[in-house]
Amino acid sequence: MKDFLAISDYSSEEIQDMLDLAVKLKKEHFKKGNKKIFKGKVLGMIFQKPSLRTRISFDMAMRHCGGDALYLSPSEIGLGKRESIADVARVLSGYVEVLMARVFDHAHVVELAKWSEIPVINGLSDYNHPCQGMADALTVIEKFGNAKGLNVSYVGDGNNVTTSLMHVSAQLGWNFTVATPEGYDTNPKAIAIAENIAKKTGSKLTFLRDPHEAVKGAHVIYTDTWTSMGQEEETAKRELVFPPYQVNSQLVSEADKDVIVMHCLPAHRNHELTDEVADGPHSVIFPQAHNRLHAQKAILASLFGVA
Ligand code: CP
Ligand code: NVA
Repeated sequence: MKDFLAISDYSSEEIQDMLDLAVKLKKEHFKKGNKKIFKGKVLGMIFQKPSLRTRISFDMAMRHCGGDALYLSPSEIGLGKRESIADVARVLSGYVEVLMARVFDHAHVVELAKWSEIPVINGLSDYNHPCQGMADALTVIEKFGNAKGLNVSYVGDGNNVTTSLMHVSAQLGWNFTVATPEGYDTNPKAIAIAENIAKKTGSKLTFLRDPHEAVKGAHVIYTDTWTSMGQEEETAKRELVFPPYQVNSQLVSEADKDVIVMHCLPAHRNHELTDEVADGPHSVIFPQAHNRLHAQKAILASLFGVA
Protein backbone atom coordinates (compact mmCIF):
# COMPACT_ATOMS: atom_id res chain seq x y z
CA MET A 1 0.00 0.00 0.00
CA LYS A 2 1.74 3.19 -1.10
CA ASP A 3 -0.95 5.80 -0.43
CA PHE A 4 -2.99 6.97 2.55
CA LEU A 5 -6.39 7.80 1.07
CA ALA A 6 -8.74 6.10 3.54
CA ILE A 7 -8.50 4.36 6.91
CA SER A 8 -10.55 1.53 5.40
CA ASP A 9 -7.78 0.81 2.85
CA TYR A 10 -5.68 -0.64 5.69
CA SER A 11 -6.15 -3.65 7.96
CA SER A 12 -7.04 -3.21 11.64
CA GLU A 13 -3.52 -4.39 12.51
CA GLU A 14 -1.91 -1.81 10.23
CA ILE A 15 -4.02 1.00 11.71
CA GLN A 16 -3.15 -0.19 15.21
CA ASP A 17 0.57 -0.31 14.30
CA MET A 18 0.43 3.25 12.94
CA LEU A 19 -1.23 4.44 16.15
CA ASP A 20 1.40 2.66 18.27
CA LEU A 21 4.03 4.41 16.18
CA ALA A 22 2.29 7.77 16.73
CA VAL A 23 2.45 7.18 20.51
CA LYS A 24 6.17 6.37 20.23
CA LEU A 25 6.97 9.37 18.02
CA LYS A 26 5.02 11.69 20.33
CA LYS A 27 7.02 10.47 23.37
CA GLU A 28 10.26 10.88 21.46
CA HIS A 29 9.24 14.40 20.35
CA PHE A 30 8.75 15.59 23.94
CA LYS A 31 11.78 13.74 25.34
CA LYS A 32 14.71 14.64 23.16
CA GLY A 33 13.20 15.48 19.79
CA ASN A 34 12.52 13.13 16.89
CA LYS A 35 15.30 11.35 15.04
CA LYS A 36 15.87 12.80 11.57
CA ILE A 37 14.06 9.93 9.86
CA PHE A 38 12.72 12.12 7.00
CA LYS A 39 16.12 13.61 6.13
CA GLY A 40 16.36 14.39 2.41
CA LYS A 41 12.59 14.06 1.95
CA VAL A 42 10.20 16.82 0.89
CA LEU A 43 6.41 16.76 1.15
CA GLY A 44 4.42 18.62 -1.53
CA MET A 45 1.17 19.92 -0.04
CA ILE A 46 -1.60 20.66 -2.55
CA PHE A 47 -4.49 22.67 -1.11
CA GLN A 48 -7.74 23.38 -2.96
CA LYS A 49 -9.35 24.60 0.29
CA PRO A 50 -8.14 26.61 3.32
CA SER A 51 -6.40 24.94 6.26
CA LEU A 52 -4.73 25.77 9.56
CA ARG A 53 -4.15 22.41 11.28
CA THR A 54 -3.48 20.18 8.28
CA ARG A 55 -1.08 22.60 6.67
CA ILE A 56 0.97 23.52 9.74
CA SER A 57 1.01 20.06 11.35
CA PHE A 58 2.23 18.38 8.15
CA ASP A 59 4.86 21.06 7.62
CA MET A 60 6.10 20.76 11.21
CA ALA A 61 5.97 16.94 11.13
CA MET A 62 8.41 17.01 8.21
CA ARG A 63 10.69 19.60 9.84
CA HIS A 64 10.82 17.83 13.24
CA CYS A 65 12.04 14.68 11.49
CA GLY A 66 14.65 16.41 9.33
CA GLY A 67 12.58 16.82 6.16
CA ASP A 68 10.89 19.76 4.48
CA ALA A 69 7.49 20.71 3.03
CA LEU A 70 6.25 22.88 0.17
CA TYR A 71 2.85 24.60 0.22
CA LEU A 72 1.12 24.67 -3.17
CA SER A 73 -1.89 26.98 -3.14
CA PRO A 74 -5.07 26.50 -5.21
CA SER A 75 -4.18 29.34 -7.56
CA GLU A 76 -0.64 28.09 -8.18
CA ILE A 77 -1.51 24.53 -9.13
CA GLY A 78 -4.94 24.87 -10.70
CA LEU A 79 -5.34 21.12 -10.23
CA GLY A 80 -7.37 19.78 -13.16
CA LYS A 81 -7.86 23.31 -14.53
CA ARG A 82 -4.50 24.77 -15.53
CA GLU A 83 -3.18 21.26 -15.98
CA SER A 84 -4.64 17.75 -15.83
CA ILE A 85 -4.38 15.89 -12.52
CA ALA A 86 -2.47 13.09 -14.26
CA ASP A 87 0.16 15.54 -15.52
CA VAL A 88 0.48 17.34 -12.16
CA ALA A 89 0.99 13.96 -10.48
CA ARG A 90 3.70 12.84 -12.90
CA VAL A 91 5.57 16.16 -12.79
CA LEU A 92 5.55 16.45 -8.99
CA SER A 93 6.68 12.81 -8.70
CA GLY A 94 10.07 13.93 -10.01
CA TYR A 95 10.46 16.82 -7.55
CA VAL A 96 9.28 15.66 -4.12
CA GLU A 97 9.13 12.35 -2.21
CA VAL A 98 5.49 12.40 -1.00
CA LEU A 99 2.32 14.38 -1.76
CA MET A 100 -0.55 15.48 0.44
CA ALA A 101 -3.68 16.85 -1.22
CA ARG A 102 -6.80 18.57 0.13
CA VAL A 103 -9.44 18.47 -2.58
CA PHE A 104 -13.15 19.09 -3.09
CA ASP A 105 -13.89 15.92 -5.02
CA HIS A 106 -12.55 12.66 -3.59
CA ALA A 107 -12.11 11.33 -7.14
CA HIS A 108 -9.38 13.95 -7.61
CA VAL A 109 -7.14 12.61 -4.84
CA VAL A 110 -7.73 9.09 -6.15
CA GLU A 111 -6.72 10.26 -9.64
CA LEU A 112 -3.62 11.95 -8.22
CA ALA A 113 -2.63 8.69 -6.49
CA LYS A 114 -3.28 6.69 -9.66
CA TRP A 115 -0.78 8.70 -11.69
CA SER A 116 1.73 9.58 -9.03
CA GLU A 117 4.92 7.56 -8.59
CA ILE A 118 5.25 8.65 -4.96
CA PRO A 119 2.87 8.12 -2.01
CA VAL A 120 -0.21 10.35 -1.85
CA ILE A 121 -1.93 11.31 1.40
CA ASN A 122 -5.53 12.51 1.51
CA GLY A 123 -5.59 15.76 3.51
CA LEU A 124 -9.44 15.92 3.35
CA SER A 125 -11.92 15.39 0.56
CA ASP A 126 -15.69 15.60 0.34
CA TYR A 127 -15.74 11.86 1.22
CA ASN A 128 -13.39 11.56 4.19
CA HIS A 129 -10.60 13.01 6.35
CA PRO A 130 -8.39 10.05 7.27
CA CYS A 131 -5.51 12.03 8.86
CA GLN A 132 -8.08 13.58 11.20
CA GLY A 133 -9.46 10.12 12.02
CA MET A 134 -5.99 8.91 13.04
CA ALA A 135 -5.40 11.92 15.31
CA ASP A 136 -8.87 11.40 16.79
CA ALA A 137 -8.10 7.76 17.58
CA LEU A 138 -4.78 8.74 19.16
CA THR A 139 -6.63 11.24 21.38
CA VAL A 140 -9.21 8.65 22.47
CA ILE A 141 -6.49 6.07 23.20
CA GLU A 142 -4.55 8.57 25.33
CA LYS A 143 -7.63 9.13 27.45
CA PHE A 144 -9.13 5.65 27.71
CA GLY A 145 -6.49 3.21 26.46
CA ASN A 146 -7.35 1.10 23.47
CA ALA A 147 -10.24 -0.79 24.99
CA LYS A 148 -12.61 -2.62 22.66
CA GLY A 149 -16.20 -1.62 23.36
CA LEU A 150 -15.63 2.10 23.88
CA ASN A 151 -18.70 4.11 22.90
CA VAL A 152 -17.99 6.86 20.38
CA SER A 153 -20.99 9.05 19.50
CA TYR A 154 -21.07 11.55 16.67
CA VAL A 155 -23.79 14.19 16.64
CA GLY A 156 -24.51 16.53 13.72
CA ASP A 157 -23.85 16.47 9.99
CA GLY A 158 -22.93 13.09 8.49
CA ASN A 159 -19.85 14.34 6.64
CA ASN A 160 -16.25 13.57 5.68
CA VAL A 161 -15.09 13.67 9.32
CA THR A 162 -17.90 11.28 10.31
CA THR A 163 -16.74 8.80 7.68
CA SER A 164 -13.15 8.65 8.94
CA LEU A 165 -14.20 8.56 12.61
CA MET A 166 -16.59 5.70 11.80
CA HIS A 167 -13.89 3.80 9.90
CA VAL A 168 -11.26 4.15 12.60
CA SER A 169 -13.81 3.19 15.28
CA ALA A 170 -14.77 0.09 13.31
CA GLN A 171 -11.10 -0.82 12.79
CA LEU A 172 -10.40 -0.58 16.53
CA GLY A 173 -13.52 -2.42 17.67
CA TRP A 174 -15.18 0.65 19.19
CA ASN A 175 -18.94 1.09 19.11
CA PHE A 176 -19.91 3.97 16.88
CA THR A 177 -23.26 5.74 17.13
CA VAL A 178 -24.33 8.62 14.92
CA ALA A 179 -27.27 10.97 15.26
CA THR A 180 -27.99 13.04 12.16
CA PRO A 181 -31.09 14.89 10.97
CA GLU A 182 -32.96 13.45 8.02
CA GLY A 183 -31.27 14.37 4.74
CA TYR A 184 -27.83 14.73 6.36
CA ASP A 185 -26.97 11.08 6.88
CA THR A 186 -23.53 9.51 6.77
CA ASN A 187 -22.46 8.36 3.30
CA PRO A 188 -24.14 4.96 2.70
CA LYS A 189 -21.10 3.62 0.84
CA ALA A 190 -18.90 4.52 3.79
CA ILE A 191 -21.39 2.81 6.12
CA ALA A 192 -21.29 -0.40 4.05
CA ILE A 193 -17.48 -0.40 4.24
CA ALA A 194 -17.60 0.20 8.01
CA GLU A 195 -20.10 -2.63 8.46
CA ASN A 196 -17.73 -5.05 6.73
CA ILE A 197 -14.86 -4.02 8.99
CA ALA A 198 -17.12 -4.15 12.06
CA LYS A 199 -18.04 -7.78 11.33
CA LYS A 200 -14.39 -8.70 11.89
CA THR A 201 -13.63 -6.46 14.87
CA GLY A 202 -16.91 -6.73 16.83
CA SER A 203 -17.62 -3.01 16.60
CA LYS A 204 -21.33 -2.10 16.82
CA LEU A 205 -22.60 0.63 14.46
CA THR A 206 -25.84 2.46 15.22
CA PHE A 207 -27.55 5.19 13.18
CA LEU A 208 -30.15 7.36 14.90
CA ARG A 209 -32.01 10.65 14.61
CA ASP A 210 -32.14 11.51 18.33
CA PRO A 211 -28.94 13.09 19.70
CA HIS A 212 -30.04 12.41 23.29
CA GLU A 213 -30.38 8.69 22.63
CA ALA A 214 -27.05 8.72 20.78
CA VAL A 215 -25.02 10.08 23.72
CA LYS A 216 -26.38 7.69 26.39
CA GLY A 217 -23.34 5.84 27.77
CA ALA A 218 -20.98 7.70 25.39
CA HIS A 219 -17.29 7.90 26.30
CA VAL A 220 -16.75 10.27 23.39
CA ILE A 221 -19.09 12.92 21.99
CA TYR A 222 -17.87 14.25 18.68
CA THR A 223 -19.29 17.01 16.52
CA ASP A 224 -18.23 19.01 13.48
CA THR A 225 -19.39 22.07 11.57
CA TRP A 226 -22.94 22.01 10.19
CA THR A 227 -21.66 23.44 6.89
CA SER A 228 -18.49 21.99 5.41
CA MET A 229 -16.16 23.73 2.99
CA GLY A 230 -17.82 23.79 -0.42
CA GLN A 231 -21.38 23.84 1.02
CA GLU A 232 -21.43 27.53 1.94
CA GLU A 233 -24.53 28.31 -0.13
CA GLU A 234 -26.51 25.90 2.11
CA THR A 235 -25.52 27.65 5.35
CA ALA A 236 -28.84 29.42 6.03
CA LYS A 237 -30.86 26.24 5.42
CA ARG A 238 -28.56 24.17 7.61
CA GLU A 239 -28.70 26.71 10.46
CA LEU A 240 -32.44 25.97 10.67
CA VAL A 241 -32.08 22.18 10.70
CA PHE A 242 -29.16 21.54 13.05
CA PRO A 243 -29.80 23.46 16.35
CA PRO A 244 -31.31 20.35 18.08
CA TYR A 245 -27.92 18.69 17.43
CA GLN A 246 -25.87 21.33 19.26
CA VAL A 247 -23.37 19.85 21.72
CA ASN A 248 -24.12 21.83 24.88
CA SER A 249 -23.87 21.22 28.63
CA GLN A 250 -27.25 19.50 28.76
CA LEU A 251 -26.27 16.96 26.08
CA VAL A 252 -22.87 16.35 27.69
CA SER A 253 -24.55 15.69 31.07
CA GLU A 254 -26.52 12.84 29.46
CA ALA A 255 -23.33 10.89 28.52
CA ASP A 256 -20.88 8.86 30.65
CA LYS A 257 -19.55 11.01 33.53
CA ASP A 258 -15.98 10.79 32.13
CA VAL A 259 -17.02 11.62 28.55
CA ILE A 260 -14.59 13.57 26.38
CA VAL A 261 -15.87 16.09 23.85
CA MET A 262 -14.11 16.26 20.49
CA HIS A 263 -14.25 18.47 17.42
CA CYS A 264 -11.85 18.44 14.47
CA LEU A 265 -11.90 22.28 14.34
CA PRO A 266 -12.45 24.89 13.01
CA ALA A 267 -15.44 25.19 15.36
CA HIS A 268 -18.36 27.52 14.89
CA ARG A 269 -18.76 28.34 18.53
CA ASN A 270 -22.28 28.44 19.92
CA HIS A 271 -23.56 26.75 16.78
CA GLU A 272 -22.53 23.06 16.80
CA LEU A 273 -20.55 23.42 20.06
CA THR A 274 -21.15 25.91 22.89
CA ASP A 275 -18.30 27.93 24.40
CA GLU A 276 -19.14 26.41 27.76
CA VAL A 277 -18.47 22.88 26.46
CA ALA A 278 -15.56 23.78 24.15
CA ASP A 279 -13.72 25.42 27.07
CA GLY A 280 -15.12 23.13 29.78
CA PRO A 281 -13.64 20.16 31.67
CA HIS A 282 -14.74 17.47 29.18
CA SER A 283 -13.26 19.15 26.11
CA VAL A 284 -10.10 17.76 24.50
CA ILE A 285 -10.29 19.88 21.34
CA PHE A 286 -6.81 21.38 21.63
CA PRO A 287 -4.87 18.19 22.54
CA GLN A 288 -6.84 16.61 19.68
CA ALA A 289 -5.65 19.33 17.27
CA HIS A 290 -2.06 18.91 18.52
CA ASN A 291 -2.27 15.16 17.92
CA ARG A 292 -2.52 15.84 14.19
CA LEU A 293 1.24 16.44 14.31
CA HIS A 294 2.07 13.11 15.93
CA ALA A 295 -0.43 10.98 13.98
CA GLN A 296 0.84 12.41 10.70
CA LYS A 297 4.46 11.70 11.58
CA ALA A 298 3.38 8.07 11.96
CA ILE A 299 1.53 8.10 8.61
CA LEU A 300 4.57 9.61 6.84
CA ALA A 301 7.00 7.21 8.53
CA SER A 302 4.83 4.24 7.54
CA LEU A 303 4.65 5.37 3.90
CA PHE A 304 8.42 5.97 3.80
CA GLY A 305 8.99 2.65 5.58
CA VAL A 306 11.43 4.35 7.95
CA ALA A 307 10.12 3.48 11.38
N1 CP B 1 -9.24 19.79 11.28
C1 CP B 1 -8.65 20.28 10.15
O1 CP B 1 -8.40 19.58 9.18
O2 CP B 1 -8.35 21.61 10.23
P1 CP B 1 -7.88 22.52 9.00
O3 CP B 1 -9.02 22.60 8.04
O4 CP B 1 -7.54 23.84 9.61
O5 CP B 1 -6.68 21.85 8.36
N1 NVA C 1 -16.25 18.85 7.66
C1 NVA C 1 -15.33 19.96 7.63
C2 NVA C 1 -14.03 19.58 8.23
C3 NVA C 1 -13.00 20.68 8.29
C4 NVA C 1 -11.69 20.23 8.85
C5 NVA C 1 -15.16 20.44 6.20
O1 NVA C 1 -15.02 19.60 5.29
O2 NVA C 1 -15.17 21.65 5.98
